[in-house]
Amino acid sequence: MNNINETINKVNNKLKIGIIGLGRIGQVHLAALKTLKDVDVVAISDISPDLIKKTVEEYQIPNFYTDYRLLLHQKDIDAVWICSPTTYHFTQVKEALDNNKFVFCEKPLDAELSKIETLINSYSDLSLRLMVGFNRRFDPDFATVKKRLQEIGKPVIIKITSRDPFPPSAEYSRQSGGIYNDMSIHDLDMARFISGSEVEEVIAIGSKNYTEDIDTTLITLKFKNGIICNIDNSRKASYGYDQRLEVLGHDGMISAENKKITNVQFYSDSNIQSSVLEPFFLERYKQSYIEEAKEFITAIKEKKEFPSTANDALQASILANACGQSLEKKQMIFL
Ligand SMILES: NC(=O)c1ccc[n+]([C@@H]2O[C@H](COP(=O)([O-])OP(=O)(O)OC[C@H]3O[C@@H](n4cnc5c(N)ncnc54)[C@H](O)[C@@H]3O)[C@@H](O)[C@H]2O)c1
Repeated sequence: MNNINETINKVNNKLKIGIIGLGRIGQVHLAALKTLKDVDVVAISDISPDLIKKTVEEYQIPNFYTDYRLLLHQKDIDAVWICSPTTYHFTQVKEALDNNKFVFCEKPLDAELSKIETLINSYSDLSLRLMVGFNRRFDPDFATVKKRLQEIGKPVIIKITSRDPFPPSAEYSRQSGGIYNDMSIHDLDMARFISGSEVEEVIAIGSKNYTEDIDTTLITLKFKNGIICNIDNSRKASYGYDQRLEVLGHDGMISAENKKITNVQFYSDSNIQSSVLEPFFLERYKQSYIEEAKEFITAIKEKKEFPSTANDALQASILANACGQSLEKKQMIFL
């Protein structure tokens, strides 16, 4: 990358950002970036002219394109946020890197391992140029669990519950690569992040309850450092967005409980009432997207590796694929 030093110097003023894809997560990232002082969102792109119009009106973005390539060719843009459907990530990441942009790409980097490997093998400084959106690492509660892990002694069991309130549209499902690549991938990354180790054994079972695809699954992992982990995923939880993390250690237990809309509880002689859960990821993980963007900017300014890299994306995708294989073959997969 010939102009990396030039870009880093510019970042000391304001980082100029373009966003590709303005659907659910694109809007979340745009709102998160708008809260930060040291960045300017100067361009957006989506194939939907209506979405562009609505977003430009709301945020007064000066440049907008239905063809993302025009955004990538805009010279003054330093960094690109790729929030398009998963099937476009590989091509758009590659084109953005080839246009000398720093890149933030939503998970998963690609459903095909070979494509992620191609990216890793094509750019020697990739961990300084591409960050992958495993936002849950930056959730303040989960980050605290990681930080305080040593206080519970040697960890032995990790339990992750991650259930969506309702299943996605059939169109989203088709482009998403299935439950393991689309949904469990967050939890597989969280399991790696918390364990600080790599997986050697994977077993997954699943069922179809609400859609034509596997929408309910239990995954068990065994890490090389001996930790065992259980992940419980469902595309539907009638009571809201259920997101919990628990780690059992030799000397104690640490857990991050669900976030509720309010912390107010009502007590009477016949019952106790408390608020329902945050409805979905937009609300539950709102702060994590802001922290994630801050980490992206800090890494560029300090010329250090991004905290979630293409290799993290590769490892999580290897696990997602192993889950699919385990389900299909009805057997444990050894990595
Ligand atoms: N980290 C998270 O919490 C999180 C949450 C949801 C989705 N995601 C990921 O984000 C990605 C997008 O998911 P979503 O839920 O926002 O999907 P979405 O369908 O709501 O939005 C995708 C947007 O991209 C646009 N688009 C399609 N093709 C395009 C192209 N070639 N160029 C530019 N724009 C294009 C669509 O018009 C749409 O507006 C997926 O990869 C998904 O896995 C991550």
